[in-house]
Amino acid sequence: MGIEERIDQLLARMTPAEKVGQMRQIAGSGDDDTEALIRQGGAGSFLNVLGEQAAAYQRLAVEESRLGIPLLFGRDVIHGFRTIFPIPLGQAASFDPGLVREAARIAAREAAAAGVHWTFAPMVDIARDPRWGRIAEGCGEDPYLAACLGAAMVQGFQGSDLRDPERIAACAKHYVGYGAAEGGRDYNTTYIPEGLLRDVYLPPFEACVRAGAATLMSAFNNLNGVPATGNAFTLRKVLKGEWAFDGLVVSDWNSVIEMIAHGCAADEREAALCAVAAGVDMEMTSAAFAGHLESLLAEGRLPLELIDEAVRRILRIKLRLGLFDDPYRRNTAVPLAPEHLEAARQAARESCVLLKNDGLLPLASTVGRVAVVGPLANDGGEQLGCWAFDGRAEDSVTPLAALSAALGEERVRYAPGLDDCRSCGERLIPAAVAAAREADVVLAFLGEDAGLSGEAHSRAFLDLPGTQQQLLDALAATGRPVAVVVMAGRPLTLEPVAEKANAVLLAWHPGTMGGPAIADLLLGVASPSGRLPATMPRTVGQVPLYYNRMNTGRPPRGDAPCVTTGTPLDPVRHYATYLDVDHRPLFPFGYGLTYSTFTYSDLELSTRELKLGEALTVAATVTNTGRARATEVAQLYVRDLVASLARPVRELKGFQRVELAPGEAARVRFALHTDDLSFHNAEMRRVTEPGRFQLWVGPDARGGLQGQFEVVE
Ligand code: BGC
Repeated sequence: MGIEERIDQLLARMTPAEKVGQMRQIAGSGDDDTEALIRQGGAGSFLNVLGEQAAAYQRLAVEESRLGIPLLFGRDVIHGFRTIFPIPLGQAASFDPGLVREAARIAAREAAAAGVHWTFAPMVDIARDPRWGRIAEGCGEDPYLAACLGAAMVQGFQGSDLRDPERIAACAKHYVGYGAAEGGRDYNTTYIPEGLLRDVYLPPFEACVRAGAATLMSAFNNLNGVPATGNAFTLRKVLKGEWAFDGLVVSDWNSVIEMIAHGCAADEREAALCAVAAGVDMEMTSAAFAGHLESLLAEGRLPLELIDEAVRRILRIKLRLGLFDDPYRRNTAVPLAPEHLEAARQAARESCVLLKNDGLLPLASTVGRVAVVGPLANDGGEQLGCWAFDGRAEDSVTPLAALSAALGEERVRYAPGLDDCRSCGERLIPAAVAAAREADVVLAFLGEDAGLSGEAHSRAFLDLPGTQQQLLDALAATGRPVAVVVMAGRPLTLEPVAEKANAVLLAWHPGTMGGPAIADLLLGVASPSGRLPATMPRTVGQVPLYYNRMNTGRPPRGDAPCVTTGTPLDPVRHYATYLDVDHRPLFPFGYGLTYSTFTYSDLELSTRELKLGEALTVAATVTNTGRARATEVAQLYVRDLVASLARPVRELKGFQRVELAPGEAARVRFALHTDDLSFHNAEMRRVTEPGRFQLWVGPDARGGLQGQFEVVE
């Protein structure tokens, strides 16, 4: 019997109470009442219940409830389970879908072994504002990159068959617009015009749906006045209608009843009605559905078809996971297996972005004494990042441990310099300076602890917290060469760091194997290959700052810096700049150095006239002109020069990692179809308008070889 038939049969036997029960997700393990509830068929899913407890609940559901419908166990497995990978923003810096897919596969494997069926990942919220703490959990500012990587994560979690006990169901979140929170303040209001929503915020979700994502989560935010959890336009019209999504939609934690605080529902009853009508199938944590849907049905305020549709979607996922046949599904994967740790090390290596290097890195093998400074050099917990629920500090290999192992303890001297990275004290600085004086090179680990990013952890300032800059200034004043490794959950304003340091490596929160990965890079065992998935501003005053912006009618002229930082001046001319700071980012989207140098040459377009519905090939030669084997990430950008609506100055349309030996060259090729050039016009139709286009193939969103072509009818 097929899945839909089995669902029909179940629905025919279910009472309204049992149907509503399926729509309830309960957080954590409860008490005797919970057990009674499960026996009555009053719960469809749990989150954050694992192992034996989960198995015991499952037994109650399967053996002691009237219809024996299995429970679905969900958990936030965001960037690893026990083996923690770099935070998603760090993984995004790899520009490597294969790596990201593998990280999700391993996370799924370890989580499924502990009884998890369903993860609340990937998060594919576009974030153009690094003040927003949850930028750490997503793929950054670009819809194309987030779509590629989000789809890869879905494939990694789910594989090709959800019944595989090594795989778990994915959940693309937070649908939608959550990352556009005003002022970067978490949970804040969002205003996103429909065209921007469709061109920038929706595509990563659509890519996840196309990749087979079993579920989606409705977000906390109010989108254009309508809470995302009560938003019939995004949920029913776009997701379930236009995209024909047939999986389940779960609300975010309490987001159903938060519609009361939003001012869009008078009470829990109205909130429940609004959410179900809009297309939410399962309520996470709060119990407005459980409390009110039955009576709303009885009163005729809620059609039974809506409930049946929601329950059908929930049962469909349970059936696809094979839970009816194997409710206790598990695998025997060992957490922290050597191949998992090796993959985490590789992921951490690929996620690090080298921002500055005057030649100090990689350190020569003959390097003498090394002073390792900074509280983040030896903190196994903080390096795990913001969503490492099941990660353990004691599993981590810290940079200090890895460097000591690689160089020999006698060559490494550690001085924390500060009690922790938020500390405002100066007490430990003199000892760090003394260690620096005795060393040939200083490695300073600075940045943010894991608790400074993630949910409800937004910041108004983006500089180094506490007295870290003071510590760095004091280290630099010794005259010893200083390499700074920045650990952070977001792009920080690193101009004062880059000014003082000889080299800056952005390592994000690199996970369990962050230490060995960073040591590999510092010591030249591998060359950095990460690229920025989000623009790095000079100052928080420039935010929001993102590369795929519109041009304005008065674009800043060329690359000439407008004024000196911090000095308010009269505008020389009336252009879209600032009076008191350079309008350009410190480092653009896509930027990252390696231990080599690369040139781009011989740009070739297969045609200069592209017919609507056809594709052209763009090719260029990338040559490693330096002295180290390294990986370049070649990027393709386009600009629609004249259109019925203003179009961004650049949009990423392709990227390719190419590893080359010194002197070696490779031809990179990108296919560009006219559909890739489409956008939503004023009537909200997706169109590619004939006309001239510019393209670039290059190392980041700032440079590149330029070409032009024309789209013709
Ligand atoms: C977060 C979600 C998460 C959920 C369950 C919420 O607070 O916004 O991202 O999946 O909690 O833990």
